[in-house]
Amino acid sequence: MTISEFKKYFSTELSDIYTASESSFLYSIFVHKIVGFDAFYQRRFADQELLINDEKQLQKAVFELKANKPYQHILGETEFYGMKFFVDENVLIPRPETEELLETAILQIRHYIVIHHELQHHEESQDSPLGMINRKLKILDIGTGSGVIPLVLKKYFPEAEVHSIDFSEKALQTAKKNAAFHQLEVNFIHTDYLNTALNENFDIIISNPPYIGIDEEHEIADSVKEFEPKMALFSPTSDALIFYRKIAEDSKNHLKQDGLLFLEINQKLGPETLDLYTHLFSKAELVKDLSGNDRFIIGKK
Ligand SMILES: C[S@@+](CC[C@H](N)C(=O)[O-])C[C@H]1O[C@@H](n2cnc3c(N)ncnc32)[C@H](O)[C@@H]1O
Repeated sequence: MTISEFKKYFSTELSDIYTASESSFLYSIFVHKIVGFDAFYQRRFADQELLINDEKQLQKAVFELKANKPYQHILGETEFYGMKFFVDENVLIPRPETEELLETAILQIRHYIVIHHELQHHEESQDSPLGMINRKLKILDIGTGSGVIPLVLKKYFPEAEVHSIDFSEKALQTAKKNAAFHQLEVNFIHTDYLNTALNENFDIIISNPPYIGIDEEHEIADSVKEFEPKMALFSPTSDALIFYRKIAEDSKNHLKQDGLLFLEINQKLGPETLDLYTHLFSKAELVKDLSGNDRFIIGKK
């Protein structure tokens, strides 16, 4: 089969589940990964015969895609915030909304660093202001998954001490693989956050915890329920805000004065979630994502 014949085969086989533009995107990604040809070479060598082994692998990918397996799981990796992350059945596939959360967090943490430490460290930090002054920043991430949040933050704030908690040992293994790949040091902690008493204080608390209520399970796409870990998606009790209540309690006792909070939330529970924080923070706001849904709580203590 030639590359162009495979392209036709790919879109025909997947036409029931993917639109033409989705299948063209997926075709290009898989041919790039398996054959090694980027979009230009895919066109340039459209008449070239596929190697038997490549064709077999591409057929297998089509088979798995037809079974609704997320393409990131088939590839074993995804791109997030411009970085490559390994993903598997033990971790949530990181979502674009979490990139939005990090974008806001990085900007606000930069301001926090400058405002809180600039004067204090003015003399010693003259050569490399951000590098010098972020060294004592303590960040806590709750719900590591593939490690996207703590690893992106460690990349942007290399001097910061970044801690990240997950109850899934297997998710932490994947996060550690990503940390090793990027040569970034994060303190990964295996514990049930809901039953863990924090024993230190943080400048920044950030989290994208499980926030889907049990009663919403029927609204979630089958491919998500079938292939992504339940522990990453669903609240363990009928209280969809259980993680947010514990984070509010910890923000009261373990977030430093002027510290910052960044949370991804259930779009249906914006005002109720915000209510948990307004009395504890000098400023707490509900922020919409790029699709216009209530998606984040951003707080300053
Ligand atoms: C929505 S996923 C977020 C993963 C990652 N931070 C991201 O944004 O892609 C929630 C994560 O919380 C973890 N988790 C669930 N229950 C937990 C608990 N009781 N204690 C700590 N982590 C928990 C899950 O294993 C999962 O990795």
